Amino acid sequence: MRAFPTAFELTPVQMEQIIRLSGMAPSLHNSQPCRFRILPHVIELHADPRRRLPAADPEDRELRLACGAALFNLRLALEHAGIRPVVTLLPHLAAATALAEVRSGGLAQPRPEDARLYEAITERHSHRHPFRNTPVSTEDRHLLMRAAHEGHAWLHVVQPGELGALEGLVHRAHRAQMANPRFRTEMAAWVGRTGDTPEGVPLSAAGLKPEPRDQWVHRDFTSGQASRSPAIEFESHPLLVVLCSQHGSREAELDAGQALQRLWLTATAQGLVASMISEVVEVPETREELQRLVGGLTPQALLRIGHGTPSVASPRRDAADMLFYGVAEMFEN
Ligand SMILES: Cc1cc2nc3c(=O)[nH]c(=O)nc-3n(C[C@H](O)[C@H](O)[C@H](O)COP(=O)(O)O)c2cc1C
Repeated sequence: MRAFPTAFELTPVQMEQIIRLSGMAPSLHNSQPCRFRILPHVIELHADPRRRLPAADPEDRELRLACGAALFNLRLALEHAGIRPVVTLLPHLAAATALAEVRSGGLAQPRPEDARLYEAITERHSHRHPFRNTPVSTEDRHLLMRAAHEGHAWLHVVQPGELGALEGLVHRAHRAQMANPRFRTEMAAWVGRTGDTPEGVPLSAAGLKPEPRDQWVHRDFTSGQASRSPAIEFESHPLLVVLCSQHGSREAELDAGQALQRLWLTATAQGLVASMISEVVEVPETREELQRLVGGLTPQALLRIGHGTPSVASPRRDAADMLFYGVAEMFEN
């Protein structure tokens, strides 16, 4: 077995923990599409092309969001270990898999707010169950908007007058995807898993079996395996937010992934829970209409945020499985 590689003179145990925490970021269907190449003076973040989801994400936009989220965790974990991370995004290399590199900018003392986000990394999970009918406070809304801004993104808080139009778009996108056999087959391969598997969405984290009357949560992560009591209803007024960037560039997508993770960890640190509603952003026609609804910015993610009971974590691969040793390895696999 190879020793766990390390950078910046951290111990192998520290580095393994840093990579493990980076891998706890969210990813579409828990596909975990990032890999890390660790050299003494640099950590490279790579996309893992074997974990693409071409039916849902043909342009790899969500893959870059997931890798951006993992990059944000990596930054927090390095700071926690006393290293100031200096990040260069490398999204222009269309054919290569490298997305970013992180070097050491010297010793770091994490800001108290970043220390809280670091603590939230292991607490954050997707919450697909109904929320409590307790509104998100104005103070929490401000914190969430500030988190998005700090990540160079914009948070569009969906207004009551926009809910009807958005609901129609989400339903339309969901119907379009479910009518596509490639999408259905791809999703079925990743969700509703019952065995011992380090990736994909297990049945225990899948939430409820959606019903046609549900307003926002439509994806069936149970693969039809769960039953649901007719008495169980979703919350009537979740906070719905669209995370937007200025542009639709690859760099903006990596930044949006980092902002998504900052936003979600901020919510977690405030005792809030969240789940994503991505069909409306994945289907090009509804994404265009959503772009008009948010005033022309580029929509990257739709989230529902609220108060809820703790939810079950989805599994992750071992840190060693997320390592990448270079180009030679691409030909080995
Ligand atoms: C780009 C992206 C899109 C996602 N879309 C959805 C979605 O539409 N519905 C959903 O319930 N979860 C969605 N998720 C959440 C993932 O399913 C989740 O992060 C993954 O299963 C790991 O679980 P965790 O968030 O509990 O750690 C998305 C995550 C990412 C990064």
